[in-house]
Amino acid sequence: MKSKASAPGKVILFGEHFVVYGVKAILCSINKRVTVTAEKTSERKISINSQIGNLILEPNKLISEINSPLKPFYYLANKAIKNQDTGIEIKINSEIPLGAGLGSSSACCVAGAAAIFRLFEDVSKEKILELAIEAERTIFENTSGADCTVCTYGGIIEYGKKQGFKKIEDEPNFQLVIANSNIEHSTESMVSGVKTFVIKNKEEFSKLLNQESKLVEDVLKLLKENNPEELGEKINQNQKYLETIGISNNQLKKMIEIGQKTSFGAKITGSGGGGCIFALTNESNVEQSLKEFKDKNFECFSAEIDFKGLNTF
Ligand code: PMV
Repeated sequence: MKSKASAPGKVILFGEHFVVYGVKAILCSINKRVTVTAEKTSERKISINSQIGNLILEPNKLISEINSPLKPFYYLANKAIKNQDTGIEIKINSEIPLGAGLGSSSACCVAGAAAIFRLFEDVSKEKILELAIEAERTIFENTSGADCTVCTYGGIIEYGKKQGFKKIEDEPNFQLVIANSNIEHSTESMVSGVKTFVIKNKEEFSKLLNQESKLVEDVLKLLKENNPEELGEKINQNQKYLETIGISNNQLKKMIEIGQKTSFGAKITGSGGGGCIFALTNESNVEQSLKEFKDKNFECFSAEIDFKGLNTF
């Protein structure tokens, strides 16, 4: 018997970094997916197969002793077969660029949890999300769970440290052009760089927090209106705040410049220092925006909001 599940990647539309200091962030899932297939095997082994490599191990190993990006899958499979006399073979197929802040690891954890656990029982989305967050903690101990949440439910969510998650029911009709700097970045070191900025610039940062908070509240209203021009202005404004806290660099600035010229607005998505930027477009400017990025040799693609979230087969 085989079980199959897929989950989408994500972008942070507004509020990265400021969310660490209590402002709400807005995330949306995108129509680029990870698909995971799981199958029971008679041999009691956990075997994981992916585009980035393979991992074959006996069950019951200590998670801390496994040094592989595929560790979350091992964690999930091991948990699932604890009281079962079976092994598991897992195959992963991903359309989401790795390590670019587009939620590839969260989508893996969500699709992995669903494919693996549904081999044994009918599991609810809530339970799958809980398992996915547990699995993601094996690689990102401090994850807020926001990425796994948006990958599970799809669409747009707001997330605040105090408030938790809320699904936004609006379904605005825009397209994102996502460009990848291909510069590796570490979320941890970017977050610690911002912390240094905060310590050195207390007053300025407190002003920025108020401005970002107001901007996010404005955006929550704007999403209902499907008005890309006004949303684009907010995106550009958010980018200015991100530049002030020092998470941009020359390469990202070049990309933002192309994005802002060819779309309604463009900003970094995620921790910055590398990774991706996105530009807000619709059918009137998506092709032109993609062309400009490609002409300047930037890796890019267009994406729509995914409203489905986790899908099981
Ligand atoms: O680069 P990403 O997609 O992992 O996003 C990090 C978001 C931050 O706000 C910078 C950190 C966080 O934990 O919220």
